[in-house]
Amino acid sequence: MRLAIFLVILCIFEYAVSVDHTNFKTCEQSSFCRRCRNVKPDNPKFALVPGTLNTYSDSITAELQHKDNKHIFSLKIEALELGNTFRLLVDEKNPLKPRYRVTDALKSEPKPGSIKVQEGEAEFTITSGPNKAVVNADPFRVDFYQNDVLTVSVNAKGLMTFEYLRPKPQQPAEGANDAAANEVKEADEITDAGAWEENFKSHHDSKPYGPEAIALDFTFPEAEVLFGLPEHADSFALKSTSGTDPYRLYNTDVFEYILDSKMALYGSVPVLYGHGTQRTAGVYWQNGAETWVDIYTAEKNVVSSIVNFVSGSRKSDPPAAHFMSESGIIDVFVLLGPTPLDAFKQYTALTGSAPLPQMWTLAYHQSRWNYNNEGDVADVSAKFDEYDMPMDTMWLDIEHTDGKRYFTWDQFKFPNPLSMVQNLTALGRHLVIIVDPHIKRDTHYFFHNDCTERGYYVKTPEGNDYEGWCWPGAASYADVFNPEVRAYYATQYLPTNFKTITTDVMIWNDMNEPSVFNGPEVTMPKDMVHYGNWEHRDVHNIYGHMYVLATFEGLIGRDPNQRPFILTRSHFAGTQRYGAIWTGDNMAEWGHLQHSIKMCLSEAVGGFSFCGADVGGFFGNPDAELFERWYQTGAFLPFFRAHSHIDTKRREPWLFTEKTRLIVRDALRKRYSYLPLWYTMFYEHEVTGEPVMRPLLAHYPTDKETFAIDNEFLLQDRLLVRPVMDQGVKKVNVYFPAIDDKKNGDVWYSVDTFKKYTNVGYESISVESDTIPVFQRGGTIIPKKERIRRAATLMKNDPYTLVICLNRAGKAEGTLYVDDEKSYDYRNGVYNYIKFNFENNKLDVNPIGKLKYKTPAWIERVVIAGLERVPKSATLIIDGISQQLDILPHGEAIAIRKPGVSVQQIYNIRLNY
Ligand code: NOJ
Repeated sequence: MRLAIFLVILCIFEYAVSVDHTNFKTCEQSSFCRRCRNVKPDNPKFALVPGTLNTYSDSITAELQHKDNKHIFSLKIEALELGNTFRLLVDEKNPLKPRYRVTDALKSEPKPGSIKVQEGEAEFTITSGPNKAVVNADPFRVDFYQNDVLTVSVNAKGLMTFEYLRPKPQQPAEGANDAAANEVKEADEITDAGAWEENFKSHHDSKPYGPEAIALDFTFPEAEVLFGLPEHADSFALKSTSGTDPYRLYNTDVFEYILDSKMALYGSVPVLYGHGTQRTAGVYWQNGAETWVDIYTAEKNVVSSIVNFVSGSRKSDPPAAHFMSESGIIDVFVLLGPTPLDAFKQYTALTGSAPLPQMWTLAYHQSRWNYNNEGDVADVSAKFDEYDMPMDTMWLDIEHTDGKRYFTWDQFKFPNPLSMVQNLTALGRHLVIIVDPHIKRDTHYFFHNDCTERGYYVKTPEGNDYEGWCWPGAASYADVFNPEVRAYYATQYLPTNFKTITTDVMIWNDMNEPSVFNGPEVTMPKDMVHYGNWEHRDVHNIYGHMYVLATFEGLIGRDPNQRPFILTRSHFAGTQRYGAIWTGDNMAEWGHLQHSIKMCLSEAVGGFSFCGADVGGFFGNPDAELFERWYQTGAFLPFFRAHSHIDTKRREPWLFTEKTRLIVRDALRKRYSYLPLWYTMFYEHEVTGEPVMRPLLAHYPTDKETFAIDNEFLLQDRLLVRPVMDQGVKKVNVYFPAIDDKKNGDVWYSVDTFKKYTNVGYESISVESDTIPVFQRGGTIIPKKERIRRAATLMKNDPYTLVICLNRAGKAEGTLYVDDEKSYDYRNGVYNYIKFNFENNKLDVNPIGKLKYKTPAWIERVVIAGLERVPKSATLIIDGISQQLDILPHGEAIAIRKPGVSVQQIYNIRLNY
């Protein structure tokens, strides 16, 4: 017992004080990464086996052979029905045992579309609509053309690896001489020291199946920049890995992560895009094992060794990526764009978009590790009211539990959780509590007993329950790959089981990489065994995803008509269908504030529109200026939550000076004023799959200056946000992008003053401590609510303001989405989706589809910026009846007062001169 306590303290201590990068492998320290990286270009090993091509109406199959070891692999290529997307699969034809195929990332199995195949001498061509894939037999290479333009080339560098499963070589008998042992070596024997077992620090990986790595390279002939591959604390544009480690995807709990780093973090989303002025394409590498990705970006003096790409005029090699995974099969989706939004949508068409969340989840969240007790929660909530700051949600971290036993409460600190929840609910607020995947090994804990008795834990290779160390001390981990285990876990959320909360309380899943303090690289050993006899090695990056799925099933199960809210730290491709993410344990430093945008931009193109970072920084104590600027930035990121480490000073906004408090209040109020826009954007995200938060290149793809910009972002194509993220600055350089190569641009309006910006290029903009540089694009109409209340839930029926910013032609358009903000009724059509059009001095308002959601909300103001002259008055026309409206000045815009019309009405408003 004493030893156990000592070990927990040691682990927590290690977790809390060390910044030890030696805890994590470099590529050189990882046998499979070393092996794959050692494959040199221009010595391609794979070729099609002549005569093995089979063509079907929707796919082709063929055999591939490794030139040295003669092993046979099966190849399948499909062109997907969803358009501009191909799928390429390679597996061993007759593996010693089945190899792992990812089954839970895609939202559903995509349907193959019809193809035509034409056979040539040395290659064959698969045509699908305007696209084709040209498969070269020897060496094996596939060139994907979109509308006759070579867009993605697979294995052009010849770096493909596919290590087949083989019996373990016999150890040479003791005393046998080396020469004799060498004689029995097969031509292809993998001699790397870590191929059959591997050690890292004090950890041993038994590797019962030996080497089984796969790798493939992708070249983007039309691209100038590569981006994607979250999660890394790095720039949005991926950097060359020449001379550094590759980017690593291996879900891990990295303590005090460093910036500008290719190290792995909590999430892994293996999608990468190549973008150039003419087109964008992507690849989604569907593999759940540890993965490293080398990036080749245009570097001077690199002798071009690859095939003569069609665009032969370029001076440097086109960018390329080399994906290397420890196990599994090659299952890759080639996304042919051609625009950035097309490519993003092709990815979300496969893995899904985030479902429309409840409105309050888009508002402000107040968290801390930990709010001490029920009194603390009530006080903090009351103080937000006292200082007239909106806040929707209080969060409780691990200390709310009875000794880190999830689904229980610390009875001293939280003796009446249900009343605490009901008190918050009465104020229109919500509670989110944490539930982590480690389960305390305690025979007095029902959850542990159930999991033990039913055999629900992840197992050791010997078949025992795997035991690691985390917050509770000795812990085991439910095997959420088993549907029966998920179903059992999900029932814990049923009101009959979890009696101390209501169905309005939502869930935070943390430490689900899974984090194991005493495990190799702070996670579960790879030779642990999951449901179906798969090794943890095969599924590591998907464990967190499956855990979130189980929580999602639980929340749906307890209340089928309420949209769940889950925040998760670990994530994989597709997790966006179940929850929001945040960027984990950042620090109260300016660099981390800056990275919150870079990281959420990468996540957004990886399907995670609902992303945020701990406002204020998790570790350390922000000074007033950093704290203010962080709230201002957070107010324009999709997920907006303040959170801090248990050892930090309390930092609720009123604990700072009045000046800071007012600046924070202002940022919060600004967020709330834009809630109708956020809600509309998330609805449109669910429907279209286009990200909410976007890099500038999404809408200005031909403007090369945008390729590297990641301190500025777009919300759809409506707002351009360039928060102040440097200390002591009085000005920021805002880049207004060009639409075309003649340097034409949009018109932008400051959202505070409606000052107009018409030039393309950098504009130095003066900032005060309360300025958030945000600009509305001319040509857009944005719905807002300007009566800010205690919580978003209380603003549901409040009136709207429409902000119309005109483009050069005096036109603008926009949308507003309205529903009950909570249930799934919208899936049955119970909503209003409204389209606004402004043209020829007239605003036209029409529904898209039927207006089925009854709401008392009305339009209280229409602001118009960019008019050449101030109109005398305005006329509202509904059903042929007109009514005169007053016009007032509004910054550099005008405001039409009180149209008073219901949001459910069809009407127009004409300006009179
Ligand atoms: C790690 C999480 O990243 C952090 O947000 C949380 O406060 C701690 N775990 C304690 O639960």
